[in-house]
Amino acid sequence: MRLPLFWKIFLSFWLAMLLMLGSGAFLISQLRENVIFTPLAMGEKKQLKYHVSRFESRQFRKRHFPHLAKAKHKRGEDTLYLLDNQGEDYFGRVLPESLSLLYHKAKKNGKAYRVQQGDTLLFGPARTRFDRQDFLLFIKREESPMRLLALKILIHKFSLLQLFSALLISALSCLLLAWLITRPIRMLQTTANRIASGDLSVRARPALGRRNDEFTDLARDFDTMADQVERIIKSQKNLLRDVSHELRSPLARLQVALGLAERHAPDAQAPFLSRIDLESNRLNTMIGQLLNLAALERGVVSEDRTRFDISEMLHLLAEDARFEAAAKNLAVVECVAEELPVEGYYQMLYSALENIVRNALRHSPPGSTVEIKASRDDDRIEILICDQGPGVAEQDLEKIFEPFFRPSSARERDTGGTGLGLAIAWRGIAANGGHCRARNQQPAGLCMAISLPVAL
Ligand SMILES: Nc1ncnc2c1ncn2[C@@H]1O[C@H](COP(=O)(O)OP(=O)(O)OP(=O)(O)O)[C@@H](O)[C@H]1O
Ligand SMILES: [Mg+2]
Repeated sequence: MRLPLFWKIFLSFWLAMLLMLGSGAFLISQLRENVIFTPLAMGEKKQLKYHVSRFESRQFRKRHFPHLAKAKHKRGEDTLYLLDNQGEDYFGRVLPESLSLLYHKAKKNGKAYRVQQGDTLLFGPARTRFDRQDFLLFIKREESPMRLLALKILIHKFSLLQLFSALLISALSCLLLAWLITRPIRMLQTTANRIASGDLSVRARPALGRRNDEFTDLARDFDTMADQVERIIKSQKNLLRDVSHELRSPLARLQVALGLAERHAPDAQAPFLSRIDLESNRLNTMIGQLLNLAALERGVVSEDRTRFDISEMLHLLAEDARFEAAAKNLAVVECVAEELPVEGYYQMLYSALENIVRNALRHSPPGSTVEIKASRDDDRIEILICDQGPGVAEQDLEKIFEPFFRPSSARERDTGGTGLGLAIAWRGIAANGGHCRARNQQPAGLCMAISLPVAL
């Protein structure tokens, strides 16, 4: 499965953040397990004083002695410890470990502290004296189950809220981070796509604004590459135009000389001269096509835009095709909707479609059918020109639109073409706002699909 970089960055940052949050929470909970001594709160001081006064009242002691060790408190159950000078409990109970720690710390520093451990609070001491003996009073308070439950629910709710907000905040910050990192990549991608679709003037660096980092270095290198590509393509186009132009004049002189030679040459040389004539005509056509292609590449158009009905153009093409097809016993079938208005260059579109139809006729086996279909689909006109010939290898379906590209089978067969027809047709259709694609059809044959915008 292909996971876009944006989500990869987002998920990895988020995961890292959650791990950090988790380990932080774990560390804090570990710390909580440790015994931490803090000063007494006001209420706790009062509580100690109150119990000291109870102990020191004789009557109270007599009446309540068996219950002395326990006391009810609004917050829970209190257990009172009376420790003597050796740290032994007056009632002979085993001391909890944290109480021993609290006892020693208090004795050493001469101060009272409180220790909270989970649900249990320990605090003290307060000095008291009875039975002619000094004691230190400590109180252990166990939170009441109801209060504990309420507290737990509150903590639970609070921690859920905390968890939710931590998830939300970390997700938002990771989204922002992933967006910031992938933004320049998306910009570079947009630029690369525009260059690939033929707009060689576009550059990546200005789109990145004032930032200055590795991405801007990359954009600068990318622009250097785009400069080079633009230069090479421009010089290639100019070369194509200049060479074709330069070849035209010697060829014209050659054809004039040939005309003169044909008039004066003996009959025995006539077959050779007519061969030279044929080849020089081919050369002339090729040069004409090259100039046509070079002009299209530069966006030079020698005709005006007009509005016309392309269904009529297709009828004309079909008529011409039938005339040519008769020799090969081919059928030309038309299925063209009425009224397909187009605004564009009539001659340019006519030559483009003519080339495609002639290709179909050329590659059709005798006795087969060539189909010409056209229909309107919303704001597009879809034209299909299909034959029942051998088709084109799948890997060559896009390459046949490149100048001089001919599949090896075509080179060997010598179909007589120059290999420029589809390159010109493709550019001609594009200059009219359309596009053209080739695909093989079942059981055999090639289909050319041309799409053009409907004139408003
Ligand atoms: N209908 C088709 N069936 C099979 N192959 C085709 C078809 N149309 C085009 N091709 C292949 O695509 C190649 C390029 O076509 P293109 O029209 O550009 O050149 P061409 O027909 O050889 O020469 P020309 O410049 O005279 O048109 C052809 O050589 C041929 O191999
Ligand atoms: Mg052709």
